[in-house]
Amino acid sequence: MTGRHRWPVLFAALLTLATISAASAKTASAAAQPSVMLEAVTGSQPLPNGIQIQAGPAQLRITALRDDIIRVRIAPGATLPEDASWAVLPASRTSSVDVQPAQDAASVGFRTASLDVRVERSPMRLVVRDLAGNIISTDALGRPTTFADGGFTVYKDMPADEHFFGLGDKTGTFDRRNQAYTLWNTDVGPQEAVDPLYKSIPFFLAIGRSRAYGIFLDNTWRTWFDFGKQARDAYAFGAEGGPLDYYLIYGPDPRHIVEGYTWLTGKPPLPPLWSLGFQQSRYSYSPESKVREIADRLRADRIPSDVLYLDIDYQYRNRPFTVDPVKFPNFPEFVSDLHTQKFHLVVITDLHIAHVANQGYMPYDTGHAGDHFVKNPDGSEFVGVVWPGPAVFPDFTRAQTRAWWGNLYAQFVKDGVDGFWNDMNEPSVFDQPTQTMPLDTVHRIDEPGFATRTATHAEIHNIVGLENPRATYDGLLKLRPDERPFVLTRASYAGGQRYGFTWTGDNSSTWNHLRLGTQMILNLGLSGISFVGDDIGGFNGSPPPDLLTRWIEIGAFNPLYRDHTTLGSLPQEVWVHGPQQEAIRRRYIETRYRLLPYIYTLADEASRTGLPLDRPLFLEFPEIFASPTADADSIDTEFLLGPDLLIAPPPFAEMLDDYTVFYPKTLWYDFWTGLKVPPPPTPPTITEIANAAPDTKFPEPPKIHPVLDVLPVYVRGGSILPLQPLIQSTDETPDGPLELRVYPGPDCKGSFYLDDGHTFQYQHGDFLRQTFTCSSESNAVIVHFDARKGSYAPWWKNIEVVIYDWPSAGADVKLSNASTPPKTTYDVASHALHILIPDAASDTELRIKGQ
Ligand code: NOJ
Repeated sequence: MTGRHRWPVLFAALLTLATISAASAKTASAAAQPSVMLEAVTGSQPLPNGIQIQAGPAQLRITALRDDIIRVRIAPGATLPEDASWAVLPASRTSSVDVQPAQDAASVGFRTASLDVRVERSPMRLVVRDLAGNIISTDALGRPTTFADGGFTVYKDMPADEHFFGLGDKTGTFDRRNQAYTLWNTDVGPQEAVDPLYKSIPFFLAIGRSRAYGIFLDNTWRTWFDFGKQARDAYAFGAEGGPLDYYLIYGPDPRHIVEGYTWLTGKPPLPPLWSLGFQQSRYSYSPESKVREIADRLRADRIPSDVLYLDIDYQYRNRPFTVDPVKFPNFPEFVSDLHTQKFHLVVITDLHIAHVANQGYMPYDTGHAGDHFVKNPDGSEFVGVVWPGPAVFPDFTRAQTRAWWGNLYAQFVKDGVDGFWNDMNEPSVFDQPTQTMPLDTVHRIDEPGFATRTATHAEIHNIVGLENPRATYDGLLKLRPDERPFVLTRASYAGGQRYGFTWTGDNSSTWNHLRLGTQMILNLGLSGISFVGDDIGGFNGSPPPDLLTRWIEIGAFNPLYRDHTTLGSLPQEVWVHGPQQEAIRRRYIETRYRLLPYIYTLADEASRTGLPLDRPLFLEFPEIFASPTADADSIDTEFLLGPDLLIAPPPFAEMLDDYTVFYPKTLWYDFWTGLKVPPPPTPPTITEIANAAPDTKFPEPPKIHPVLDVLPVYVRGGSILPLQPLIQSTDETPDGPLELRVYPGPDCKGSFYLDDGHTFQYQHGDFLRQTFTCSSESNAVIVHFDARKGSYAPWWKNIEVVIYDWPSAGADVKLSNASTPPKTTYDVASHALHILIPDAASDTELRIKGQ
């Protein structure tokens, strides 16, 4: 090294040391602060968009970002902390609406066009009402917001009818009430009753009979949420450090809360279509011949599939961004052969970079030269043991480091690898007692919107799993600007949806984990993470045949559909338990592929609205909560895929008992038979039961007898579902008509979205979107095709419209822009009239009249 080069390095080292000691001093002084309780308002000043309040030494600023979203920032001292966020989009964070100041003897506050926000003077508490005066949320009386030991606690009232959802991937119960949770990203295996887990999403929905709102605590430190474990009538949340900065998002419709939350933290990008196909993985397919064998078998057995994975064993000595030259001697040719077979390849690239200096390992050498790794307090690189042995960790809070990381993908991109898997990014560190980095390791924040400063791992830990996939996603965008990146991450923080997919981590091959998977996927969806799945068949252990079959059935309706298992477990591919099981499994995977137009349309919706693909019933039918007897919170294995498909596995999937499906109050059709489900009998009222003669038999809802080869699936009456002919990979063009299944019923509608499935050309108008409506009168159905939007040319020439609940073959059919009536056929078994029409169905009406 020449003298000319040494000075900048020395200077940087000195600067680093200076900022590190300032940072530790800051942490120490925070811890030494005396406790502060917000007990009474001592001053206030209106702001155009809110109010500033003093409570003794403490400051409180409440602002309205939208009429239905307020932000609450509280500091124990005179100044509010840095106004910066990793999660909230700058445009949303800086949004504001003008408010009307409102104050009286008892309170100060303001009104927006939908909320009345008051801080009662003494005892001090924040009360948020709707404009009719109904309380939405209120601080708990007698439990003031408290700052102590560098952290804080906020208490809110918890009425008896309130249920809590969200908080990401937590297990336990679907409803978070009566549970307490810690948010601290943790690599942990068996998931039942284990907390914390991999992700920290400090956002929850509170839903009661007549009110609903969400709270997002934007704090990256270790946070906690207690929904009634400590107290019966109040819930609490807090953090061990960092800012008290939270957002209250008003409903009352739960869908509106999720949309509001993703307005704050971002919508997921539209994924490549292939990522919604079936994915086959294991730890690990290696060598190359094994992967080829799996690819060949999938095709030979006609299991529709799109993606194969390489887990850590494809690497040379487990070093990220290498390929073992013995096991994969000609990697580019191997990738290209998989493409020829219409597979996409995803490879794992963990964040731990092997600590091997000057041995030609480019990621370490360039990372070290660029000063990209997390440091110990003494300024040296932090080294911890993970898969490659001693490893260092990129400091993803630096924009330059993320850019360097992104570029590490250049060779893989050149080789044609399609997608990337960021695992172990809690970060997991094997040789540390805490399984992660020591809290005093030092990150450097160098990020637009933030002061350039150092931060300890205590502050950054929970966002490593956010900034790692961000670096990957942004890097891929740079390397392949017109390809949609596919990134799968295990850890995450609020806003993680912006970088693609996640999964629920290392589950086990047990029935209970199959059940937990649904709850986790639903709560992740409510937490903004739409593109999610679990390891089909379970990661730890080997599933018995019926478990794997059920898992493949249910997984067909989850956004990420990936069979994955651990090192040393038995083979877990679709065919392993013989042809009978394989046939059932194939049928569900085929159903998935037939439904891809519907699923892709939902993906497009998610990218615009933030609504998840898999939805708890209450997201579409919030009135469930209004009923005094409803137990919406306990419906945790039934779920909806989009607004129209109801998936209703047995509540305990291993049990052979007959069971009752909870049908939200509307009309339902059986997806498999096409037949209408008879409406369940209205349950007797308490008075009817009380007054009934002793032996009265009230009509009971029909029961379902579980059988392995049928997963009960229903379609909402009043929907129009787009389906496609079967393909073996999304790289194939479907051959035949687009099928539009019309299930007459109230508010009948549907839509499809289509584009090339992998580029960003859709952002320049190269897509096709169409909505449909249908109305039924006695003896007639009218389907209206709205005008199409976008310029993308569809793959179909004809559309096959299928009208369910049609009584007979007799039908007069008229297409508004055609002179000859379309051809029809009738399927007696499903009561369905099939009508083939030419594709040119934009702003067209199809009238079907009974004869
Ligand atoms: C842990 C991940 O959760 C698992 O899916 C993966 O197979 C192993 N790491 C090995 O990479």
